[in-house]
This record gives sequence, C-alpha cells and structure tokens, in this order.
Amino acid sequence: MNIAKLLVVAVALLGLQGVVAQEQFTYNEDVAQIINENCVVCHQEGGIGPMHLTNFDQVRPWAPLIQLKVANREMPPYAYDHGIGIQDLIGDWRLQQEEIDTIVSWVDAGSPRGDVDVIPPVAQVKSPGQWNFEAELGAPDLIVASSSYDIPADGNDLWLREIVDPGVTASVASSCIKAVQVKPRGDAAAVVHHAGPRRPPRSLLQ
Ligand code: HEC
Repeated sequence: MNIAKLLVVAVALLGLQGVVAQEQFTYNEDVAQIINENCVVCHQEGGIGPMHLTNFDQVRPWAPLIQLKVANREMPPYAYDHGIGIQDLIGDWRLQQEEIDTIVSWVDAGSPRGDVDVIPPVAQVKSPGQWNFEAELGAPDLIVASSSYDIPADGNDLWLREIVDPGVTASVASSCIKAVQVKPRGDAAAVVHHAGPRRPPRSLLQ
C-alpha cells in the first residue's frame, strides 16, 4: 500500500467516525422501544415503579435520572454480574450495552422526541394484575399471603422479614414447583420496592 492509499483509508475512516458521532437518537425512533420493552412493566399504572414511563411526556422529565440509573445498571433492577459467570440467561432483564449507549447519547443530545410521524411501538407488557406464567401454567395453585402491615407515610425503607405458614401439605410439597412469583397486593404496589429470598432463621432449618 503506498502513502496515497493509506491517506485515502485514513480519510475514509475519519469520515465514518463523523457519521457515527452525528447520528442522533430520538425517543420516537430509538428510545421508546427500549423503555417500553424493559421499563414499562413496572413503570405503568398500577406497577411498582414510582413514576410512569409509558410515553414521551412521562419519560422526558425523568431523562437525566433515567440516564444515570441506566448507565449505572441500577435500572432495570437486576443486579446480576455482567462480567463473571454464565451470561446467556433466559428472560434476561439486563439491557444490552448498545441499548444503554443509545439512552445515554439520547439524553446527552437533550432527549429529543424526534419525528412526530414515527409512532413508537406500544409496550407489550403484562398488566400488573396478571401472573407472569399464566399463559403456560394457568393461575397459581397456591397463593400465600403475607399479613397486612401499616407503612408510615414518612420515613426510610422498612425491611420486613416475615415468616408465613404456607399451609403446604405433604402431597403438594412432593410435587415439583414450576414457578414462583412475588406480587404486591392491592394498594401495596405503592410502597413495595422489591422482595427477595433470604436465608431462613436457623431454628427453621433443623
Ligand atoms: C422490576 C420493576 C422495574 C423495572 C423493570 C424498572 N424499574 Fe425503575 N424503578 C422500580 C422501582 C421499584 C423503583 C423505586 C426504587 C427506589 O426508589 O429505590 C424504580 C426507580 C427508578 C428510577 C428512580 C426514580 C427516583 O425518583 O429515584 C428511575 C429513573 C427508573 N426507575 C427508571 C427505570 C428505567 C429507565 C427502566 C428500564 C430501563 C426501569 N426503571 C425498569 C422498578 C422497576
């Protein structure tokens, strides 16, 4: 390759970079789909998210905070390590790096709505009243309710560690559990952040 060709290649590469840097992401064309597929399930009417993210007007005021939470991988809330261990997960909640980058540059560019004639695809998500595996497995065979608890209007997070008798008999216990889902009941959706498994107390492990 002679110098002239090298120069042409270098100029071509620079040109390409220019195009990439200029590409502007918009809500209607790029961001709505990511948010609809990954956030609306919780951030919708009746969902556990503190605000709704179902359209541009709802999303726009939150853009800077969305950028922060997404870039730090705090949202969607799924703290699975993305550097170590099996990465090929079924039902993976994590955003792809490309999706994170799209949201970050969209916010950096001032979170534009984009072409009003481009209608963003509607979120295809289950309503908060549905069970996740209802289509395949039917309604749950057993619903174990926690006891009711009054949450003060002010204050920090409360961590409840409740032990409930599920009333499971030997015949049920011997069959295989296919799915488990934890859901806030009724008004509790307004105060529940999350629930997770914890080690049972020693006394129950005997
Ligand atoms: C599994 C349910 C769930 C999903 C999915 C989810 N969120 Fe959230 N989000 C929450 C909950 C619950 C909170 C409140 C948590 C808290 O304040 O600690 C929250 C808080 C936030 C906040 C901070 C609000 C504040 O006032 O501090 C932002 C921003 C946010 N979510 C954006 C997103 C975005 C963007 C996505 C998708 C990429 C997403 N969330 C996906 C449940 C969810």
